[in-house]
Amino acid sequence: MAEAGSFADRVKQQADIVRVVGEYVRLKKSGQNFTGLCPFHQEKTPSFAVHPVKQIYHCFGCGVGGDAFKFVMEMEKVAFPEAIRIVAEKCGIPIPKPRDRSPEERKENQQRSALVEMHREAAAFFARQLSDTPEGKAARGYLEDRGLDREAITRFGLGYAPSGGDVLYRFLKQKYPDKLLDPSGLVVKDQGGRFYDKFRRRIMFPIANESGKVIAFGGRALGDDMPKYMNSPETPIYSKSNVLYHLDRAKEAIRQGNCAILVEGYMDTIAVARGGFTNVVASCGTSLAEPQVKLLSRFTKKVYVNYDPDTAGQAATERSFAVLLEKEFEILVLTLPGGADPDKYLKENGAAAYEKQLKAAPPYIDFLISRARRMDRSTATGKLAALNYLMPYVQRVPNRLIRSEWASRIASELRVDEPVLREALRRASVERHSEVKPKAELVSSAMKQADRRLMQMLVEAEDFREKLAHEIVGESLHKGLDTERIFEVLLATAITGAQPDPAALAESLAEPDRRLFFSVVFESAAAPSWDEAESCLIVLRRRHIETELHNVQKQIEAQPAAADLNRLLTRKQDLRKRLSG
Ligand code: UTP
Ligand code: MN
Repeated sequence: MAEAGSFADRVKQQADIVRVVGEYVRLKKSGQNFTGLCPFHQEKTPSFAVHPVKQIYHCFGCGVGGDAFKFVMEMEKVAFPEAIRIVAEKCGIPIPKPRDRSPEERKENQQRSALVEMHREAAAFFARQLSDTPEGKAARGYLEDRGLDREAITRFGLGYAPSGGDVLYRFLKQKYPDKLLDPSGLVVKDQGGRFYDKFRRRIMFPIANESGKVIAFGGRALGDDMPKYMNSPETPIYSKSNVLYHLDRAKEAIRQGNCAILVEGYMDTIAVARGGFTNVVASCGTSLAEPQVKLLSRFTKKVYVNYDPDTAGQAATERSFAVLLEKEFEILVLTLPGGADPDKYLKENGAAAYEKQLKAAPPYIDFLISRARRMDRSTATGKLAALNYLMPYVQRVPNRLIRSEWASRIASELRVDEPVLREALRRASVERHSEVKPKAELVSSAMKQADRRLMQMLVEAEDFREKLAHEIVGESLHKGLDTERIFEVLLATAITGAQPDPAALAESLAEPDRRLFFSVVFESAAAPSWDEAESCLIVLRRRHIETELHNVQKQIEAQPAAADLNRLLTRKQDLRKRLSG
């Protein structure tokens, strides 16, 4: 959020969160932290904490959290620039008049405008490559095969990145110095410091910000090249979790119809929009992030989630609920029949059929119930598992009547006594509003101690943060952990050696990861040592081996061919040895 050297950054450096929050909440010193009654939800015992060293706040009751700016934004319902001004005022930091901005800030603004201009030219360059070159002709053929004619190409600004290696670079170099091209994300530097094009032999989808300016690209491989899609990296003008593809074109329709359709990909968006449903946006590869939902909530609070019906898409659908419910969205789920993604479905069945599907899309809770129905419900344990799966979602429904209606439905679906279920729901909601202690315990039991300590060290360990990050990334030790997403954002900063900014990182996390992350950061612990880090790494390594061992064992039990069996047995022995060694 606050870029280095900018006014916002200076305010951030100088502001005192205790002073800012203290104007709204009566804070009491409690150990390292300050605590008080949370201003964002009703409570009688304090669950709200402020960390003076890390300059963040977090409510262990309702889960809110962030830095001083976020606090003011939520409290005063103002946008970021206004929040900076308010924080500066409260902390007695002089506010520069627009004219005497710092030179760094002016330079950054210049850089950003130049990058936006560069992207506009790049988009035009890609479009020309598609329409005017022999290589582009093949790409046009590909698009035609996929049902995209000239009209669609123009409408969505599609282009083609040629295979040459540095065709775009040589074009842009005429106008822009390397210093500016480097952070654009359009080129990459090889080991010898030479630039070449990031996107080669790909269909290019321009990604625009809310006001319609191209700020990034998605590129699809022409054939089966890997990866299928490649996207611009984070740059000074582009942050993936803050952008929804096609929002610039969709926002009017979203506002007018008071609902949006959310799909996974570029091709889906284009197909749906061409079908006449202009109110479509895509989260594009990432699972839906909180800032994206916030952005959308400015236009509507009702969304049709229409992700791919494959396993990944359905899991992403489920994940999106938490973020959307947090912002009190009404959610409907559209799972298209025949295993088709929206693009394929529209091509095969047409817009009228799609509209019918849309009209019949059930609320998210039906989607969840039908997922729960697939679990084994013949045993008590199975029922409990299904119940545990559904409960957290029901709890999030803000309206009590609706919540109670869902409870009845779930009771009859799972054949549980309704009073039993209501009691469980009641207990759960008491838990939700309870105070600091039990909540923190709940969280800690859900997460393994080693994960927890490693995260803390990635934030706190000045001396070996970078080394630790390299160890984890090098062996992919965080992959497959429940906390993988949190590790990912932490590692991305830590691997550069930079000190992670918890409040900023939390913004890119979805619930409940965000909440978990805050609770971890808040915990005070002994000063980290490399010895301790190593012992945590050993725990993770073992877990890694155990997982693979489990997989190998399952493959062995599936009675593979003799050659495979031999390989698997050797592997098993090897893994066993490593576990005991
Ligand atoms: P899909 O694999 O479903 O692609 O990924 P698609 O949109 O159906 O594409 P076609 O029809 O095969 O061309 C959905 C979205 O996930 C992101 C892209 O944004 C894509 O549109 N994605 C997918 C990536 O970022 N990288 C990948 O390698 C794959
Ligand atoms: Mn798809």
